[in-house]
This record gives sequence, structure tokens and C-alpha cells, in this order.
Amino acid sequence: DGFASSQLFNQGVCYTYDDVIFHPGHIFFAANEVDLTSNVTKNIPLRVPIVSSPMDTVTEAEMAITMATLGGMGFIHYNNTAEEQLRQVLKAKRHTPGFIVTPAVAGPNDTVSKLYELKNTRGFTSVCVTDTGALGGKLLGVVTTRDIDFINDKLTPLAEVMTTDLVTAPEGTTADAAGALLKKIKKNKLPLVNAQGELVGLATRGAFKDARNFPAPGAPSLDGAGLLRCGAAVGTRDSDRERVKMLWETAAVDAVILDSSQGDSTYQVEMIKYIKAAHPGLDVIAGNVVTGAQARRLIEAGADGLRVGMGSGSICTTQEVCAVGRGQATAVYHVARVANALGVPIIADGGVQNSGHITKALALGASAVMCGSMFAGTTEAPGEYFMLNGQRVKKYRGMGSLEAMAKGSETRYHSDTQSLKIAQGVSGAVKDKGSIRKTVPFLAQAVRQGFQDIGANSIKMAREMLYNGAMRMEARTNAAQAEGNVHDMVAYEKRPW
Ligand code: XMP
Repeated sequence: DGFASSQLFNQGVCYTYDDVIFHPGHIFFAANEVDLTSNVTKNIPLRVPIVSSPMDTVTEAEMAITMATLGGMGFIHYNNTAEEQLRQVLKAKRHTPGFIVTPAVAGPNDTVSKLYELKNTRGFTSVCVTDTGALGGKLLGVVTTRDIDFINDKLTPLAEVMTTDLVTAPEGTTADAAGALLKKIKKNKLPLVNAQGELVGLATRGAFKDARNFPAPGAPSLDGAGLLRCGAAVGTRDSDRERVKMLWETAAVDAVILDSSQGDSTYQVEMIKYIKAAHPGLDVIAGNVVTGAQARRLIEAGADGLRVGMGSGSICTTQEVCAVGRGQATAVYHVARVANALGVPIIADGGVQNSGHITKALALGASAVMCGSMFAGTTEAPGEYFMLNGQRVKKYRGMGSLEAMAKGSETRYHSDTQSLKIAQGVSGAVKDKGSIRKTVPFLAQAVRQGFQDIGANSIKMAREMLYNGAMRMEARTNAAQAEGNVHDMVAYEKRPW
């Protein structure tokens, strides 16, 4: 009944996630017992095999820190200078989980309107006031919405309304101790100060409540030194060799992604060989690829992981513009078959719109999935919120969009004509999705339930079932897909994902 993977994916048709459906298997374990631990590269295991994409509207330090705290991992984009990228990676690697990543800080002469602005653009309801208006300045006070509720003149300086009667904790306080202190003092904010009274960090009651209400779905992703894992994307030009050296030697970046929409090139083969010879301890993820032959070439050059997908991303126009690519379910299956046999994990990149797509990618042989649009518009994504047609939104754009290429990302697309840029992506906005602290646990649990239904209690077991034919599957017609979605309802409660 149904098809084995080798039958379904060898008929001259390519399928995307929605085209494919699995048959339920036999359940002999609880969903919570499903072990999703998997390797994102040869040497980096993750408890939650979900990573965030190196796009300039998705992953900077705050996203990378939160992803690693939740058991996944983030890859910092490189649409910036090498120094700026290094700063982001260092920020992520040096962060102590439990504290706020980027506390809002203002100066004493900033006005009440600043807090309203922070609320609209970043969702903050309080701000620390320091003499310099920045982290590292001498802490003068804290202003929360409670301090300004009855202040009508928005030009009132913060110095006049701030609370100065503060409880602070010394630099070096652990997250557990800060949490206990916040509970005891019944305040919302606990600034951390050094011996000179300068603001060095911030713990908040809200963050501790979030951590309690939305427990991380897996242990944090830490390196051998106990620091949060963080990856970064780079190109294949000579200047990128310098970038890699800096990221590795100064920040001990955990892995670099050679970022290209078509990774099967001599540029990548040479870059992989160079990095593996110059920095043998650094893992290299190559790609993107969609065929077994492409995969084999990059693996033979020394890749420690592969990124799979071409034109399947929500903002991609590569298949339309360049006429190349592959349905994502088929691409994942065929690349994984070759890569898994050679002991190299693959990351299914792009096209993930819901938890079912993640389950499908992992069941078809991927060791992790990479998401862009799923995490765009969240609190942790770079950029500020703004209002569009009555909705709070954040910008999300393809790295091959004209807008992103204007900032330098065209190397990803082998574009060497400066005068005539061919866009392979679009830019737009996505609505405010709240924090990934809520999304990622939800996704991980839904994937565990998907694995339970398939009858696989781990990624390892799913892999065995995939290749020995025990995992049965079929393609769905358009009508079957429509039937599988919500239908015949006047209105229904929108699902979170
Ligand atoms: P999702 O579907 O998660 O996809 O939003 C994110 C992935 O899409 C790729 N990407 C692009 N592909 N043109 C493309 O053809 C683009 O402008 C572009 N920008 C990003 C990338 O692999 C990312 O992880």
C-alpha cells in the first residue's frame, strides 16, 4: 500500500512539500519521547534541528542568540562589512542566556516621546537612562510606561520622570540569581552595573516569565567552551578569505555557510578546500544544491554540511527568472540520499511554511531545516516594526532582491554585471509574529507529534524507515490537498502557523 520513497521520487516528476503525504505508522511511544537530536554539520549536533537563514531581515545577533538558547542555531548574514558581521557573531558568542540581548537605553535629555517611539518600533515598555544614552554609560534611572501615564507633554525630558530608586545587581550575576532577585524584589527590571555604576546588562521579569511559560524545546546549543553556537554566511571572493579568518580566529564562529543560490561551482570547491586547509577546526556548509551530482562534488571537496533548495523560498524568483531549481521535497530526498550515504548532513532551506513541512523535510532525509519567512516579522528579527494598511509589520526581503543587492548581496547570485542587475527575489513586509520563544517550542512539539504519527521515535529511526521502504508515502492531487486543508467553513480561528 502506498509507495516507498525510492518509488515516489523516481518518476520524472518533482514534488514540493504540499504534494507529498505520509501514511501513518505504528505508535509505540509518547510524542514527548521523540528524539529530534540531529547534526546540522558533521560536528555540530542540535537538540532542535531548526536554524535561521543568513538574510539581513532574519538573522543578526538577537535572532542567533535566541535560536541557540532554544536548542537551534542562527547564521548571521553577510550583507555588511566584515567588522560589522564579526561584531554580531561576537555579541552572540559572548551572550549569557537569560539576559536581554539589546536593552533599550536613552539619555537624560531624551524626551518622553522616545519611550512611545520604542514601544511602536521595538515593542519595549521601559527604557534605562544612562549619562551617555548608551549601554556602558553611568546608570541614572529607569522609565517605564507607569512613569509617563499622566504626563501630557511628550517633550518632557526623561530625567524629570525617571525612577531613580533602583535595585541593581553587580556585573557577573548569574541568570538564575537575577531571576531569584527579580522574584524577591517584585520589580520588572533588574539592571546590571559594574563597579563604576555603569550599565552592563539587564534582566527582566517578562523574560523570566516567558522562559517559564514557554520552556525551551531542547537544551541550548553550546560549543565546547560552553558558549552559544553561532554560524555566519560568507561568499567565495578573495576578500571573504579574510572575513573567514577574522570570524574564526577572533570569534570562534561555529560554522560558515558558503552562501550561493547555485553552489555547484569551482568558486565553492576552491573555497571549501582553502578553508579546510587553513582552518581545519572550522565546519563549512556549502550549497545551495538540489541534485545528488552537485552534492557529491561539494562533499568530495570537503564540505561538512550542505544547504538544499533552489527557488523554493517564499521570496525567491530564481525558478521563474532563471528556469532552474527543483521542487523542494524531491530536492531534499535526492540530495539527502547521496549525502547521508557519505555521512554529511543536509539542511533543507526555504519553502517551510508550517510544522508539517518541517516534519516532511526531516522524514525525507534532511538533518535540519532553515527558515526565513517563518522567523521574519518576529521580535528577534532585525529592523523595526511599522504600520502598513492597519497592520504592524516588519520588512522581509530576498537577498537577491534589487533592494538587498543594492547593499552588496549580489555575489550570492554570481552577478558580475554592475550595470544590469537581474533580481532573483522580491522585498515586502510580513506581519508582527511576536517572539520566536513561542514559535520554536510550538514547531518542535508539532514535529514530535508528526514523527509519532509516522511511527518513528527519532530522526535515526525515520532515516532507517525512509531507506528500507517501511515509510510509506504518496503524492496528493490538488483536490486531496484542498481536502487536507480547512474547508467548508464560513470563518475559522486562524492557526498560529
Ligand atoms: P523562506 O521560504 O524560508 O526561504 O522564506 C528562505 C530561503 O530563501 C533563499 N533566498 C532567496 N532565494 N532569491 C531566491 O531565489 C532571493 O532573493 C532569496 N533570498 C533568500 C535562501 O536560501 C533563504 O534561506
